Amino acid sequence: MQRRLPDLLIDLAKPAPADLATLFPHRPETIVLEIGFGGGEHLLSHARRRSEAGFVGVEPFVNSMAKLVTALDQEPADSIRLYDDDATQLLDWLPDGSIDQIDLLYPDPWPKPKHFKRRFVSDRNLDRFARVLKPGAMVRFASDIDSYVNWTLQHIDRHPDFAWTARRAADWREPYPDWPGTRYEAKALRENRTPAYLTFVRL
Ligand SMILES: C[S@@+](CC[C@H](N)C(=O)[O-])C[C@H]1O[C@@H](n2cnc3c(N)ncnc32)[C@H](O)[C@@H]1O
Repeated sequence: MQRRLPDLLIDLAKPAPADLATLFPHRPETIVLEIGFGGGEHLLSHARRRSEAGFVGVEPFVNSMAKLVTALDQEPADSIRLYDDDATQLLDWLPDGSIDQIDLLYPDPWPKPKHFKRRFVSDRNLDRFARVLKPGAMVRFASDIDSYVNWTLQHIDRHPDFAWTARRAADWREPYPDWPGTRYEAKALRENRTPAYLTFVRL
């Protein structure tokens, strides 16, 4: 972590570059943000497969960050940049219309009604997503917690800048293309919970 993380971290003390692609040596046209990447399996899988894109991963839990940094130490990927604190801070730093896709995969569920307000999906955070996303950009939200799926659909439905893209049941029952799974998803499946895979477009 001491040796590798500083080169990978995005420094919010500096102003955001007008062109976010300059964070990466290969100046990608497409930049994907993954919030709460956990063990980083999904982030790494996509970064290795889509080396032309740029990936920004956010994870405040130090053990998870250490796992990803260890993997990157063994097999570096220039297309990944990291942030190790609350994703809302990074969202507020990012330039307008700079992101092509946000992945929010199995966010902390906060299943008790008295804790719903702690959920990452909120009107305020959807406003943040709307500001940083390019028109036509995607938000992907997966969860195995029915009440969180409904909560997210309700928030999207009332937000003027997003629309749910589903046309048929398979669109939310089947994983996304090239889906490597996540560690949290594997746990949900072992415990017989059924995930939903929602996709929203930034209008
Ligand atoms: C249930 S885990 C899922 C991890 C991974 N996406 C997966 O599917 O295996 C939720 C993750 O979100 C992270 N997280 C929680 N609040 C966050 C926030 N405000 N900003 C960024 N990440 C957050 C947690 O540290 C945790 O790793």
